[in-house]
Amino acid sequence: MKRKSNFIQLKIIISGYGKMGREIEKIALQRNHEILCTIDNESDWEKHINLVKQADIAIDFSTPNSIINNIIKFFGAKVPVVTGTTGWNDKFDEIKKLCLEQEQALFYASNFSIGMNILFAINKKLAFMMNSFPQYDVKIEETHHTQKLDSPSGTAISLANDIINNIDRKEKWVNETTDINSLLEIKSIRSGNITGIHNVIYNSNVDTIEIKHTALNRTGFALGAVMAAEWLYGKKGFLGMNDLLNF
Ligand SMILES: NC(=O)c1ccc[n+]([C@@H]2O[C@H](COP(=O)([O-])OP(=O)(O)OC[C@H]3O[C@@H](n4cnc5c(N)ncnc54)[C@H](O)[C@@H]3O)[C@@H](O)[C@H]2O)c1
Repeated sequence: MKRKSNFIQLKIIISGYGKMGREIEKIALQRNHEILCTIDNESDWEKHINLVKQADIAIDFSTPNSIINNIIKFFGAKVPVVTGTTGWNDKFDEIKKLCLEQEQALFYASNFSIGMNILFAINKKLAFMMNSFPQYDVKIEETHHTQKLDSPSGTAISLANDIINNIDRKEKWVNETTDINSLLEIKSIRSGNITGIHNVIYNSNVDTIEIKHTALNRTGFALGAVMAAEWLYGKKGFLGMNDLLNF
């Protein structure tokens, strides 16, 4: 790490050199950080293990199958991790425990876009208000490109959990069509090259209330992830966008 006045230049490992990894590389270089290496498969790990040990931070946008091992390996090298990889919610508590026990640093966000995080805050507030209006039923729709591996999206799951925590009549989410009032429907659509669209829709017999976020490209996610890396450097704990943005 080099520091010039308030500016920090980080030595970054990019883990997962796919669509997001390449976008993160562009943004990190624009912000004058150094990319020590990129890791895109298991053999890259063996090749670059000495560079990993010299890193200030790792940014991982890999796959649901590789993320857990990647986090454990970065922890082993005492390298703080920023990750946006989705599809590992079932391992969340285990990794959080490991992070806190080992006094490591992990920053996870299901969505790094600032706009989406504003919508997360609105979603919570709206759900809190709609708890008093049972004439409205709520559902979520998310649309992504056809290569996306997980369904529903991590962002849709975050939106759903915030609704369930605020609306007493909703008990859990399902990723299918349902008429059961206690279930929150998440509809997942996979189509073309769509970066990410999320809608939360409240329907009554007389009107519809809808909040919607459309990501126009991947730059917003990549910028959020690099800003999270700059913020995380020197901190410990299991952290996320609420800590960074302080909403
Ligand atoms: N949180 C957010 O804001 C956000 C935004 C966009 C995408 N995502 C998520 O980020 C992840 C990556 O998305 P993408 O669109 O770049 O996917 P992608 O398929 O383009 O890239 C994933 C890359 O991971 C690599 N990989 C496989 N095994 C690996 C390993 N062991 N170590 C390191 N890399 C490995 C693959 O070779 C591939 O290049 C997905 O889980 C996606 O849902 C999150």
